[in-house]
Amino acid sequence: MDPKTTLSLLLLLLLLSSIHVTSTAIHDHPIPPSPSPTSSPRAREPGPITSSPSSSSSTLDPRQLTALQSIGLPVSHRDPCSSSNSTVTCDASSPFRHVTSLLLANCSPDLDLSPTALRSLSSSLHSLSFLNCPITPPKHLPFLLPLLSSFSTAGSLRRVSGVWLARLRNLTFLSVVGVPVVATQPIVIVSQMRNLTSLTISNANLSGLVPHHWHSLELTHIDFSSNHLTGPIPSSISVLGSLESINLCSNKLSGVVPDSIGDLASLKNATLSNNSLSGQIPTSVSELSELVHLDLSFNQFNGSIPKFFSEMKRLKVLNLENNNFQGVVPFNASFIARLQVFKVGGNSNLCYNHTLLSSKLKLGIAPCDRHGHPVSPPPDLSTRSDSSDYSEDDGNDGGDDSGNGGQGHHGPSKLVLGVAIGLSCLVFLVLFLVCLSKVCG
Ligand SMILES: *[C@@H]1O[C@H](CO)[C@@H](O)[C@H](O)[C@H]1NC(C)=O
Ligand SMILES: *[C@@H]1O[C@H](CO)[C@@H](O)[C@H](O)[C@H]1NC(C)=O
Ligand SMILES: *[C@@H]1O[C@H](CO)[C@@H](O)[C@H](O)[C@H]1NC(C)=O
Ligand SMILES: *[C@@H]1O[C@H](CO)[C@@H](O)[C@H](O)[C@H]1NC(C)=O
Ligand SMILES: *[C@@H]1O[C@H](CO)[C@@H](O)[C@H](O)[C@H]1NC(C)=O
Ligand SMILES: *[C@@H]1O[C@H](CO)[C@@H](O)[C@H](O)[C@H]1NC(C)=O
Ligand SMILES: *[C@@H]1O[C@H](CO)[C@@H](O)[C@H](O)[C@H]1NC(C)=O
Repeated sequence: MDPKTTLSLLLLLLLLSSIHVTSTAIHDHPIPPSPSPTSSPRAREPGPITSSPSSSSSTLDPRQLTALQSIGLPVSHRDPCSSSNSTVTCDASSPFRHVTSLLLANCSPDLDLSPTALRSLSSSLHSLSFLNCPITPPKHLPFLLPLLSSFSTAGSLRRVSGVWLARLRNLTFLSVVGVPVVATQPIVIVSQMRNLTSLTISNANLSGLVPHHWHSLELTHIDFSSNHLTGPIPSSISVLGSLESINLCSNKLSGVVPDSIGDLASLKNATLSNNSLSGQIPTSVSELSELVHLDLSFNQFNGSIPKFFSEMKRLKVLNLENNNFQGVVPFNASFIARLQVFKVGGNSNLCYNHTLLSSKLKLGIAPCDRHGHPVSPPPDLSTRSDSSDYSEDDGNDGGDDSGNGGQGHHGPSKLVLGVAIGLSCLVFLVLFLVCLSKVCG
């Protein structure tokens, strides 16, 4: 073999291997950042407050001022109530104002909420929040702050016991996010609370069942997302007639959605994704006239997708992806265009009628054959471009990329194809030049 030909063959091999490297590199997905609470253990030293006689110029109750100082809040002694970032808010009573709400953020782990300090705040404090405060929960806090109506803790207090939280009986607002809660069941926490309107216990390592009995009939908001809750959604949930939003996503719930869900006349937002819920979507869902957002994705729901969704005037988000729905998608293009989010991908027995819906909608499912079954093969994303009948359907480089797995693969493979074609052209050019040089030489 002539050395020039050998050289060009070598070059060809080199180029082919570089294509392989490119494609593997492209398919390495970046790991999304995990939303762990950032705790900065000693971000704040005790504040620059020196108790001074000039505290007489403050209108804050002197006992409460002393309490704030002992906690080490960076409050100005001139006017502790008007801190710009609302760490402290006060009422307007005279002769002395009183602290009504307190936010403790990024505190030092040895911040001391002494019983004395809590006691002097107890008569007026209604709202207490911890944000990135890795302190031990003060044992007597629930007893010393009986008036508390709002309590929230995010990435703070290391871990709290359900019994400790349960003692905060007068709460209307409870939010625990990213703090392990030690309790056998959520009901341990809420069974004594009669005034709750908003309940969030999220990412809290909480196990057990969704409560069957509620004493807080005024609840408008429930969020138990990202825990280990098991069992079904109890049909008694329907007693919560004021419920506007329920988020149970990322738990281990199973069973069917109860028919009684249709009684939740105020429900606007239901997020049940990432569980093991099954069965059909109950017909009673059609009675939820306020419904804006329904997310049932990543469950085992089956049956056909009900047509009544297209009659729900306020619906904006309908996410049914990654379930076992089957049959023909019962919607037309104008309904889908009206929604902000419509997802049905990852239902291998579901298909769309290509005379009603364009493949440009990129629904992530196959078109139907004339019997209403997906054309075979089902939309296995890696072999998608092989389904030659509907060739305009490939290149599904999904406009929305909100974490629905496979759909993103087509963008990269298109890119690889482009690179490959470019490189082949280059190889031919080289070969052509080699031949030319032979002829001329
Ligand atoms: C509040 O504001 C003060 C000064 O403006 C700042 O030093 C402090 O870090 C802020 N605290 C919070 C919780 O943002
Ligand atoms: C709830 O607040 C009321 C006053 O609003 C108070 O009398 C009562 O003791 C509080 N209940 C508890 C359990 O702390
Ligand atoms: C979460 O709960 C389990 C028991 O349900 C327990 O073994 C584990 O230690 C808990 N994790 C944290 C971080 O508290
Ligand atoms: C509905 O709830 C989900 C999850 O909590 C949230 O991301 C979304 O913004 C809510 N939508 C509306 C319209 O409230
Ligand atoms: C749906 O799944 C349930 C079990 O979860 C099963 O009993 C039922 O037959 C299924 N229905 C359809 C239409 O596949
Ligand atoms: C689409 O479906 C809705 C509801 O079923 C219907 O009201 C509307 O007339 C349909 N639009 C077209 C263009 O077919
Ligand atoms: C698709 O829609 C057309 C027009 O409405 C209809 O004639 C046909 O039967 C539908 N195909 C399937 C499989 O539903």
